[in-house]
Amino acid sequence: MQELTTLQELRARTPLAERGGVLSESARWRGLPVFVKTLMVDDPGAQARFQHEGRVAASLHHPALVPLLATSPRQLIFPFVEGGTLRERLDTGPLSADQATSVALGLLRGVVYLHAQGVTHQDLKPENVLLRAGQASWDAAQIIDFGMSHARHLPLDIHSGTRMGTPHFMAPEQFYGTRGDARSDLYSVGVLLFDCLAGEPPYADALGWLAGIHTTLAELPGPEALHPLLRAALSRNPAQRPTSAVGMYRELCAARLTLGLPPPGGTGTTDAVPGLVVHGAAEDGGL
Ligand SMILES: Nc1ncnc2c1ncn2[C@@H]1O[C@H](COP(=O)(O)OP(=O)(O)O)[C@@H](O)[C@H]1O
Ligand SMILES: [Mg+2]
Repeated sequence: MQELTTLQELRARTPLAERGGVLSESARWRGLPVFVKTLMVDDPGAQARFQHEGRVAASLHHPALVPLLATSPRQLIFPFVEGGTLRERLDTGPLSADQATSVALGLLRGVVYLHAQGVTHQDLKPENVLLRAGQASWDAAQIIDFGMSHARHLPLDIHSGTRMGTPHFMAPEQFYGTRGDARSDLYSVGVLLFDCLAGEPPYADALGWLAGIHTTLAELPGPEALHPLLRAALSRNPAQRPTSAVGMYRELCAARLTLGLPPPGGTGTTDAVPGLVVHGAAEDGGL
């Protein structure tokens, strides 16, 4: 990651969106196709949030996360990932159980890494997942957008009601204004898995569910072997969710095995071995 002091010259700029004072563009930088976020306003709150996102992104290095290539005072420069978001993929229809669980495992290995770094994402949803080359598989799924994240090592508490995510993927405790924790991310992964299997998230009236106006759990999609995990992850009570991302990863691998689906990555990864090795990295180390 390069920390540059001057605004970087971009070529072939194509604006994609402007939100909260931040312009997103695709462009070319030093000959590379890039995705660039540029801070457009001088509002101190927007500046602080932008810097926070950059500092968190700069501290993370994992294949399930899109890396930050460079920063300048008002720019965050990422490699442009071709293939679109998981949202775009789901707009064409649900995934198979194999694809859905594979994507969820890909996300979970990223979440395991994040949590081990003391970072919670807090805004996991299909718009914040890219599928490289449009592949719905564990090694193609990449998490983006640390705009809502909380990092133990950074002072700024970004989750101060400044930006409300979509209610569908938000854990109930986040809706009530408490800062989410690791289990809030696991709730969001549960909703993501549900969405992948059903083609839509659990509740049409997500706000009503979050506010406790209706409390009946949505009918669970996909094979029954996945239902205990879905039910647990979608619990209103964080204590009833999987206890950690590693635990959820293992449970999902076990559910896949009962469906006759191998652990992703072929042999060498398993749900059943204590001291689990996930894709070549030790559980207690650099996942
Ligand atoms: N590295 C990237 N490559 C290609 N497209 C990207 C990349 N990062 C983000 N996008 C696209 O831009 C959208 C917004 O990016 P995101 O970082 O989520 O910003 P926001 O804070 O506006 O939600 C994403 O939903 C995705 O469609
Ligand atoms: Mg986003």
